[in-house]
Amino acid sequence: MGRLSRFPLCFLLFAAPSIALAQQQPSDEQIEHRVNEILGRMSIDEKAGQLTQAAGNSPETLEKVRQGKIGSLLGVLGAKNANDAQRVAVEDSRLKIPLILGFDVIHGFRTVFPVPLASAGSFDLKLIEQAEQVAAKEATSAGVKWTFAPMVDIGRDPRWGRIVEGAGEDPYLGSQVAAAKVKGFQGRNMADPDRVIACAKHYVAYGATEGGRDYNTVDISEKLLREMYLPPFRAAVDAGVGTLMSAFNDLNGVPATANRHTLTEILRDEWKFQGFVVSDYDSVHELIPHGIAGDDSEAALEALTAGVDMDMADGDYAKYIPQLVQSGRLQSSIVDEAVRRVLRVKLQAGLFEHPYADLGREKTDLLTRESRQVARKLAQESLVLLENKGQVLPIGKDKTVAVIGPLADDKASQLGPWAGNGQAKDAVTPLEGIIGRLNKDRVFYAKGVDIPPYESGLAAGVAAPAPSTATGVRGVETSKRPANIEDAVKAATKADIVLLFVGELAGMTGEASSRSSFDLPGDQMKLVDRLLAIQKPIVMVIESGRPLDIRWAPERIPAIIQTWYLGIEAGNAIADVLFGDVSPSGRLALSWPRSVGEIPTYYNHNNTGRPSSPDRWHTGYLDQTSEPLFPFGYGLTYTSFHYSNLRIESPIVSHDGTLQVSADVENTGDREGTEVVQLYVHDRVAPTSRPVRELKGFERLTLRPGEHKTAAFKVLANDLGSYDSQLKWIVPAGTYDVWIAADSRSGVHGTFEVR
Ligand code: NOJ
Repeated sequence: MGRLSRFPLCFLLFAAPSIALAQQQPSDEQIEHRVNEILGRMSIDEKAGQLTQAAGNSPETLEKVRQGKIGSLLGVLGAKNANDAQRVAVEDSRLKIPLILGFDVIHGFRTVFPVPLASAGSFDLKLIEQAEQVAAKEATSAGVKWTFAPMVDIGRDPRWGRIVEGAGEDPYLGSQVAAAKVKGFQGRNMADPDRVIACAKHYVAYGATEGGRDYNTVDISEKLLREMYLPPFRAAVDAGVGTLMSAFNDLNGVPATANRHTLTEILRDEWKFQGFVVSDYDSVHELIPHGIAGDDSEAALEALTAGVDMDMADGDYAKYIPQLVQSGRLQSSIVDEAVRRVLRVKLQAGLFEHPYADLGREKTDLLTRESRQVARKLAQESLVLLENKGQVLPIGKDKTVAVIGPLADDKASQLGPWAGNGQAKDAVTPLEGIIGRLNKDRVFYAKGVDIPPYESGLAAGVAAPAPSTATGVRGVETSKRPANIEDAVKAATKADIVLLFVGELAGMTGEASSRSSFDLPGDQMKLVDRLLAIQKPIVMVIESGRPLDIRWAPERIPAIIQTWYLGIEAGNAIADVLFGDVSPSGRLALSWPRSVGEIPTYYNHNNTGRPSSPDRWHTGYLDQTSEPLFPFGYGLTYTSFHYSNLRIESPIVSHDGTLQVSADVENTGDREGTEVVQLYVHDRVAPTSRPVRELKGFERLTLRPGEHKTAAFKVLANDLGSYDSQLKWIVPAGTYDVWIAADSRSGVHGTFEVR
């Protein structure tokens, strides 16, 4: 009997003749019918199997797939490997239910894009969506049908290494980016062969981890949870995300992986989420050290009944669900509901009709010229120009440059901390990008210093490149000695301009990579000090996963660029901007603290009864201002813009009405440039204290020299609201401030009334 003949006619009808074609979507009714039909034939072991994800494809694991005891695999890469595993499920297992193969495609698969914190700063939703579309195409060519992305955790504490994986500190930007990424991954139909199922993670409030220490406890009010941390998840759900992942942290004492309030009351009852929830790696088992389960059986019971449908990696569901049901401790209807959710997503994703990856696509779909172009454009738009005194930038191509620093030619770090199936050899380093622009005899390179890893035991596994000599790029004058500051000084002395690449190794950010100090690691500060003494113009390019402590820099260094980690096209994009082929347009997706001591620093804070002021008896510090070094939304370019003529087209907004507001933006410089125009509001009097500003809209505007354009925004009155202390969503009547602005501190200001 052929594989398809087991399916009812309705399924044969929507099986497309060629997988290159978009897939027809079965109706909800057809899917429910099929789900119930399969469920009716399942044993309790097979049901527990569908709720179980295992890592890898060892023979033992595949044997369990054959027995129906595993429904999903994590980290099986390559179309052949994926198909081999899938064949065991769809040909050898009793029920022939396909596996769902998952992988972390966080900022690209083989074509590695800028890290999410960087790309969010592009404020370019279309391009962000396009990048995820490329990632989905590449991932599916290698047999991956499910990505554990987007990571939509709001991050207000850059000590937390995972801040680099998200879209920064703002719930509005975070929500827009979340929706764009879900669309990019899933398209209109996640059954299409070049689309993946997305997974919004880590549900929820992982970014509020105390002290910025990864996996740590979170204790926040329900109001803050709803206003700050939930909105990007809601946006992902509204955009049709197929799955969510529960977080490692506890939330107000209840681990996110056993939190019925967030997983069922909010996600299912309020938001009507129809997909399934997977635990994070081992987080069902971790309910034991959390102290809410005595053993693995109890952990499985608590996680499943709270609303975690699939168990990642620890095997607790497969092992304990059957006996929990048999002993009467777990209702079989709860198991059935979770299985329904998993089967529903598998059907929606077209896995029953097309379980196999097309073996030919890996040759054509990975790392194409077009995908590199998307990576380069997104990288160009993601880096942020923080300072440019005396217009040191852009650099004339007639200049000689000294390229210095441990990150100037480090391929691995360009990729960032979570680079999917990315390969360091694909990355263009800044040095390579610069050499691509200038005659080689105009470039002098010296690494200067190595960045040492942290002591093992403190941060075991933080990768450091082997101490290297400063050679590597043919044709560029370099030293053959191990990296040393004297060579850097010599190179700098010979050049007109010093391009200094400093920061953190990619392995110092990301999961389990919290830091308590934001100093430049190792001897990088010594290198900076020696170079400053030479009195050449310096452009400091910072590669890092968090804002580093550079309070000293704006006064001492004329030009500063924050690149984060820009992916495989990093070096080209950086060179494009350094030499003015492209003007920078990225913005900060978080506020840049002056020092670790002022964290958390975020622009949308409440005013307090004693707002910040130089006067002592006001909120702040004795030893420094509480203003960030650079505000949220900030970023310069090679021209200047003037904002004027704020027009409030709706001075009075009814509760079911729309705020309409516009302003003129003029390019007052002599180069074309792109401005990210931002809309902020502030509710002056409400039942609860409201943030001093909240982002409610943005638009990228490109203007020629002397040109002006109108930036116009519309915001539904309902979106101006907030929760009252009873957690009721209200739109308070009264006066609101509004700004159209270049960042969260500036702008043209007006007011309107809500009545
Ligand atoms: C743990 C991480 O927290 C999560 O983000 C990731 O998706 C899983 N491991 C799977 O790799």
